[in-house]
Amino acid sequence: MKKWSFFVPVLLCGFVLAITGCKDSSNSGASGQTIKVGEFASLTGSEASFGQSSHKGTLLAIDDINAAGGVLGKKFELLTEDDQSKDGESATAVKKLISRDKVVAILGEVASGRSLEAAPICQEYKIPQISPSSTNPKVTAMGDYIFRVCFEDKFQGGVVLAKFALQSLKAKRVAILTDVSAAYSAGLTTYFKEQFIAGGGQVVAEQKFTKDDKDFKAQLTAIKTQNPDAIFMPIYYGPATLIALQARELGITCPLFGGDGWEAPELVQGPGAAEALEGCFYSTHFAPDQQTPEAQEFVKKYEAKFGAKPDAMGALGYDSALVLADAIKRAGTTEGAKVRDALAATKDFQGVTGKMTIDPERNARKPAVILQIKGGKFVYRETVNP
Ligand code: PHE
Repeated sequence: MKKWSFFVPVLLCGFVLAITGCKDSSNSGASGQTIKVGEFASLTGSEASFGQSSHKGTLLAIDDINAAGGVLGKKFELLTEDDQSKDGESATAVKKLISRDKVVAILGEVASGRSLEAAPICQEYKIPQISPSSTNPKVTAMGDYIFRVCFEDKFQGGVVLAKFALQSLKAKRVAILTDVSAAYSAGLTTYFKEQFIAGGGQVVAEQKFTKDDKDFKAQLTAIKTQNPDAIFMPIYYGPATLIALQARELGITCPLFGGDGWEAPELVQGPGAAEALEGCFYSTHFAPDQQTPEAQEFVKKYEAKFGAKPDAMGALGYDSALVLADAIKRAGTTEGAKVRDALAATKDFQGVTGKMTIDPERNARKPAVILQIKGGKFVYRETVNP
């Protein structure tokens, strides 16, 4: 496991030094000079694009929180562990952050499978965990200390994408390609299927693969014989690009569509990728060309700091830290149980991804956006409300 926590505070100190001076970070938890917040993220490995974006959003939030004077008179100090997008690493990362670093809360992960891995540990230690963007329903069901600031896949798959396929794509006969090694993919498949069929759609082929597969010709050939109106690919961006390329090679011309797992610049990078995905769609949480004042101000700040436009993970990474800061402020303490209660009471909190109220199951009810790939760019198309 790579160790980021030593230089992240140094980096942060650089950002806030001009305003505040850099405080000693050697004290633990909230009893020291800072409030220690842990983050675990896929900074490297197969979903590095997710982890990097989310991390940048979180860094920007910590920067803003500290520039505004911090919380309860103390600065936030972010300690980050890289789980390398690998199974088994998230539990280790979160244990370290809690036991060794004595963080008061955990932010992470993007991928549902890795949030699920960390949740029992946060629950056991009674340290609130906020996933910025894990959408699988099981994540927050792991316990009353586990929260998220995004919508769930019952909404993304069952409402947004099922409706989109039937009404906007006018697709009646859909094929599905699932990554059975990802909790995210399996969940999204289930919720989509239920509502798509209930709405009059027909699933004409269901094909599967597992993480690290590179050749999808057999699955795509089986799909092609069914001649579907569209192919639903509720998977992460890495295989999505490969599948799109191989589908076009096999002469499959129908639209492909997915969920937030497609959200990465890498999706359309590399020879032929943008062409293979031209006109295709995916649902996500945020679009930088979305015209709300909060979104636009965030885009401006993020661009100034990182030299690129933020995506959904950047925006949700930002909101996860802000929601935590707001809860600690209202709790008046960093004590786990009280912060938990304050998080659960979050109501109409204005984030950059929209207004958030945490429901009794510790989820945020929020709208989704549909983006279309045009000329290698992700273009905002519509907002779908819960
Ligand atoms: N929702 C995905 C998951 O739960 C992760 C993700 C979030 C991907 C946001 C892209 C954007 O695994």
